[in-house]
Amino acid sequence: MRTVDLIQKKRDGKELSTKEIEWLISGYASGDIPDYQMSALAMAIYFKGMSKRETRDLTMSMLETGEQIDLSAIMGTKVDKHSTGGVGDKVTLILAPLVASFGVPVAKMSGKGLGHTGGTLDKLEAIKGFQIERTQEEFIKQVQDINLSVIGQSDKLVRADKLLYALRDVTATVDIIPLIASSVMSKKIASGADSILLDVTVGDGAFMKTIEDAVELSQTMVDLGKAVGRQTVAVITNMSQPLGRAIGNRLEVLEAIEIMQGKGREDITHFICELAQIMLELAGKKVDLSEIRNHLTNGQALKKFEEFIIYQGGDLEDLYRPSSANYITEVISDDTGIIQELPALEFGLFAMRLGAGRAVKSDNLDYETGIVFDKKVGDRIEKGEIIAKIYSNKKIEPKMITEFKKNVRIGDESVDSKEILKIIV
Ligand code: URA
Repeated sequence: MRTVDLIQKKRDGKELSTKEIEWLISGYASGDIPDYQMSALAMAIYFKGMSKRETRDLTMSMLETGEQIDLSAIMGTKVDKHSTGGVGDKVTLILAPLVASFGVPVAKMSGKGLGHTGGTLDKLEAIKGFQIERTQEEFIKQVQDINLSVIGQSDKLVRADKLLYALRDVTATVDIIPLIASSVMSKKIASGADSILLDVTVGDGAFMKTIEDAVELSQTMVDLGKAVGRQTVAVITNMSQPLGRAIGNRLEVLEAIEIMQGKGREDITHFICELAQIMLELAGKKVDLSEIRNHLTNGQALKKFEEFIIYQGGDLEDLYRPSSANYITEVISDDTGIIQELPALEFGLFAMRLGAGRAVKSDNLDYETGIVFDKKVGDRIEKGEIIAKIYSNKKIEPKMITEFKKNVRIGDESVDSKEILKIIV
């Protein structure tokens, strides 16, 4: 086989065979196929797509390029959760301890943030001492002991995705369904959980811009999970505005704590209870929303969260420390009305410029910076009220405030903004 012939075959819109896909992916993972040929192939897939069979073969071939974690030493149904990326997405910080507080083992590998989207690992690393690296044995022992561990993706899993994702990131080939589905599902299958909840974000701040594309991505991933015997459910969630109030690593940890103290906004509190109900059901437990809310707000989830932070070396005092950012700048509304839009992408990029996110993989983060919104879409605001506070280590120039306000659209219409848009099983 020659790589150039297979690139041409895909470029001309033909289907690649199972053997051809296996050959391409193993050749890429071993270094025999260079980046320039793989990027041409990714672009051909971007324009010509892949059939269901090709996507399944791609996922399985990627899976074969690394180890698979065996979680069978942990009793019970192990559940995992994955988000396709968002702005202000601190869901795992709350959902994982909440579900674990019901005695369900949560063994999760998470990623770092890139561009306007955040990553759970970065938020956890904002806590002094927290360790994201664990051996497989330590990871399993922790889940056996306290039902919860969240660690960084092991280098040994899905080598092809490590290489391909970095390549896609710099060749404008990230946002295409077969490549996203195979990337996510190869990692989830390799991570070993029995059941998987996929949070597929849609909207301005997400890879999927339309609900139709989000449904197609969800269905593709659910089918891939089921094909290898993993119970898989996808929830399509709204990422047209940032999730919750905070964007930025420490600020999001603090918001997560606020929610687990029962002081969070109602919209995100309810959303997390709904996700927990699905995750618990995936683990074989039917639990009422009211009981889940009790666990979330009466300190049980928070106790589990603290236990988890301590177990992974985090400093409990530092966990509750407010942001040490040098400047807190209030953004004041010039108008009275109802917030119509807070585009997630724009605010994700704004927070990135403050140091809360990485423009490129090698960037260092400033864990203390970001944005906390006082108002969200659908909220009423009066002229002179605070829209948001900007946490920064450099002085915020008036020009930046003007830019910030340009993205806050205030009008007269009432807006109903829902978090969960659809559930695909
Ligand atoms: N998240 C992933 O892990 N892979 C993708 O391709 C996109 C989002």
